[in-house]
Amino acid sequence: MNKRRTKIVATLGPASSTPESIEQLLLAGLDVARLNFSHGTADEHRQRVRLVRDISARLGRHIAIMGDLQGPKIRIARFRDTQVMLQRGQPFTLSNTHSPDDGDEHIVGIDYPSLVQDCNPGDELLLDDGRVVLQVDTVDEHAVHTTVLVGGPLSNNKGINRRGGGISAPSLTEKDHEDIRLAAELELDYVAVSFPRSGEDIEVARKLVRAAGSHAWLIAKIERAEAVADDEALDSLIQASDGVMVARGDLGVEVGDARLVGIQKRIIQHARHQNKLVITATQMMESMIASPLPTRAEVSDVANAVLDHTDAVMLSGETASGKYPVEAVAAMARIAQGAEQERITTRSQHRVGQSFERCDETIALASMYAANHFAGVKAIISLTESGNTPLIMSRIRSAVPIYCFTPHPTTQRRAAMFRGVYPVPFDPKAYEPTDVSDSAITVLKNSGVVEPGDWVILTKGDSYHSTGGTNTLKIIKVE
Ligand code: G6P
Repeated sequence: MNKRRTKIVATLGPASSTPESIEQLLLAGLDVARLNFSHGTADEHRQRVRLVRDISARLGRHIAIMGDLQGPKIRIARFRDTQVMLQRGQPFTLSNTHSPDDGDEHIVGIDYPSLVQDCNPGDELLLDDGRVVLQVDTVDEHAVHTTVLVGGPLSNNKGINRRGGGISAPSLTEKDHEDIRLAAELELDYVAVSFPRSGEDIEVARKLVRAAGSHAWLIAKIERAEAVADDEALDSLIQASDGVMVARGDLGVEVGDARLVGIQKRIIQHARHQNKLVITATQMMESMIASPLPTRAEVSDVANAVLDHTDAVMLSGETASGKYPVEAVAAMARIAQGAEQERITTRSQHRVGQSFERCDETIALASMYAANHFAGVKAIISLTESGNTPLIMSRIRSAVPIYCFTPHPTTQRRAAMFRGVYPVPFDPKAYEPTDVSDSAITVLKNSGVVEPGDWVILTKGDSYHSTGGTNTLKIIKVE
C-alpha cells in the first residue's frame, strides 16, 4: 500500500503530555502537534514543545507544531452554583453589569459589553455550541432579555454565537498578543488565528507574529458565518493566509449544521485553488473520547474529507483529553490510507483549462502532469527554500510522493502538514553544482524509495538557494 498522504494534526493536552504518550502518538501517525492556547499554562505548552522536538529528533521524524490562538470567543460569565438548568419558555437575561460570579437561573453576566449593540429582538443566540438556544425579546443599555427556546443545563463560561453570525468582536485579544509572543519564543511552525472576519484581521495578526520574531505560517480558522457568506469574502480571507482551517464547531453553530458539509467542500476547493493549505477540524472522531472505536459516521466523515483532498484532518478533545488518544490517531491514519486507495484521489482535474501566474507555479504543476502521466515516475524531488514549490505541487491529486528537499529545519517541519509531501534534509551547497541532482537521487535510492530503472522528476532553479526561483523540471532515470 502507498504511504499515507493525508496528514494528521493532533491536539496535545492532559491526556497526551507525557514522553511515552507523545512518542506513541508520533508512532501512530501524528504529523502536526497542535497546542490549544485556550487551555493550559505557558509552561505546560513549553514542556510539550520540548518533548515533541526531542522525541521527533530521536525518531528521525519532521513534525510541525501549531499554536492555536484563543481569539475573541464571546462567553457568559459564571454561576453561583457552577451550573443552572434552563426550561423552555422561561425568561433569561444576559447582563453587562451583573456580578460575574453570581449568575442564577434568571440572569448571568457576560464579558463582552458590545453584545447589547450586536443583538436585536428576534435574534437567536446559541449557547454552548447550540445546546441551549435563546430568543432575544428586548435589548436595553446593559442587558439582553431573552426567552429560552431550547432548554437544558448551562454551566460557567460557555460560548455565545448568534445564528447567522454578526457578533463583531475584534479578532485578537490581549491574551492572543501574549500567546503570539509565546509562539515566537517556542519557534512554532504555524499560528492559527481564531474568528478572523476578513483578510485584514490576518494581516494584523501577521504583523504581530513577525514583530515578535516568528516565521510561523498563518492559518485562518474559518468559523464565522461572514467568512463564508459569499465567495469573495472567503477568497479574500484565504488569500491573506498561508492556509485555512475548516473550524466546524463555531462555523456549524453559526451557519447551521445542514449547510456545514457543503460549505466545508467549498472551503477545501477554494483553498487548494489558491495554492493554500487546508485542515479539516472538529469532532472528527468525537466518540473516541470515550470509546476505542469510531462510529461509521465518523469513519465516513474522515474519509470524505480525504476524498475532497484536505491536506490534514485534525483531532481535538480526542487526543487532548480523551481516553483513547493513540487509538484515535491510528484510526484516522488507517481510514485516510484506505480512502486514498480510491482512484479519484489520484486523478486530477485541478485547474484544467486555467492559466498559471508564475514560472515556479508552472513548473510545479507541469511536474505533476508529467508524474501522473508517465508511468515510470516513482518520486518527485523538489529543491526548495520555503516549501512553496512542493506545496503548489501537492495541490494536484497524485499517488506519486513529493519529497521536499531543503536544508532548513523550519521548512522540513512546515512541510509535514502538506498532503503527499515528505521532508528530506538536503543542502545543495554541500555538493558541486553539477552533482546536486544525482546526489539528491542517491539520497532517495539509499533510503529505498527508488531503485535503478525508476524515473524521478526533479525541480530546481538557476541559483541553488533563492526562493521563488524554480524554473527547471528534469526527468531523470535512476542509474
Ligand atoms: C532551492 C533550490 C533552488 C530553487 C529554490 C525554490 O533553493 O536549490 O534552485 O529555486 O529551492 O525555493 P521555493 O521556496 O521557491 O520553493
